[in-house]
Amino acid sequence: MGNLILIGICRGEYGLGNIMDKKELIKSPLNFTGGKFRLLNQILPLFPKEIDTMIDLFSGGSNVGVNIEAKKIISIDHQNQLISLFNTFIDQNKDKVFQGIFDIIDKYNLSKTFEHGYKYYGCNSMDGLGKYNKSKFVKLREGYNRLVDEESFYKDIMFYVITIYAFNNQIRFNKKGKCNIPVGKRDFNLNLQRNLSKFIDRIKSIDIQFYAMDFKDLSINTYDKKGLFVYADPPYLITRATYNEQNGWDLIKEKELLELLDQIDLKGIKFALSNVIESNGKRNYILEKWSKKYKVHYLNYSYNNSNYQKSKSRSSKTIEVLITNY
Ligand SMILES: C[S@@+](CC[C@H](N)C(=O)[O-])C[C@H]1O[C@@H](n2cnc3c(N)ncnc32)[C@H](O)[C@@H]1O
Repeated sequence: MGNLILIGICRGEYGLGNIMDKKELIKSPLNFTGGKFRLLNQILPLFPKEIDTMIDLFSGGSNVGVNIEAKKIISIDHQNQLISLFNTFIDQNKDKVFQGIFDIIDKYNLSKTFEHGYKYYGCNSMDGLGKYNKSKFVKLREGYNRLVDEESFYKDIMFYVITIYAFNNQIRFNKKGKCNIPVGKRDFNLNLQRNLSKFIDRIKSIDIQFYAMDFKDLSINTYDKKGLFVYADPPYLITRATYNEQNGWDLIKEKELLELLDQIDLKGIKFALSNVIESNGKRNYILEKWSKKYKVHYLNYSYNNSNYQKSKSRSSKTIEVLITNY
């Protein structure tokens, strides 16, 4: 009897939607520029109420995919290292993943402030851990770059450890596909450990599938139209992101995406597009003109940007929007 009640509560937390309380919002353990965690409270209420299948066309850290109420989520991103990592999170035991991370941290002698604090490493929280971790991080990156053609649990976890210790937790590869991000200020702190743990629990408990592919290869006709919803959160044409430096987002891709969304609309399928109309003195006129066919929801960007209060000048104004066809 006790067990039955327990199962009921767990199911309620993760998916019986309207019947039980709303799901707890989970923050991705990967910090992508343009990650939508802080905008979820504004975006999610604008999504369709009943979704059977949601296609997350530019999944990134999956802040949206893991938090949407949908029966099934198809997550697509062209960054195969990221997709491989998410599939490892789904397939492998959570304790094994954590152990793998701690083993790599120990192997490369990287800082563990969650055990020793900052002073132990001759650093403080404000300046961060870059000075202590730099040479160790370079060795980790070199080790990772040597595993070019390998596909393994170890390689995926190494990739994740790189993102933990990297500058602003970002990801960057050069033209030859080698990771070249510099060291950052932080380590595997308890907050991040908590996010990772909850994230793994969530993706194991919902019907979510991760695919490494380009958005252009989406075959929309293979999906049942009923209850289908496409969400697109592409790199923004007028802003910069490290994951976008090679094979970057350009005008051609922007137009191809807008055309794809028009086709999706013609098929009677609902879509939502995240983007910025204006940022740092630049304006995306193509997007602005295209958006007039649809519904533009203006979001409160200052809520998403902790630096906003420091830079209120007109040139730094950002107009963040969600464009929907419903
Ligand atoms: C703004 S991020 C998505 C953030 C995500 N919505 C979140 O909240 O965590 C954009 C993503 O688009 C991916 N991307 C860029 N070009 C792509 C393409 N041609 N096809 C598929 N994904 C692409 C990048 O790898 C990046 O992960």
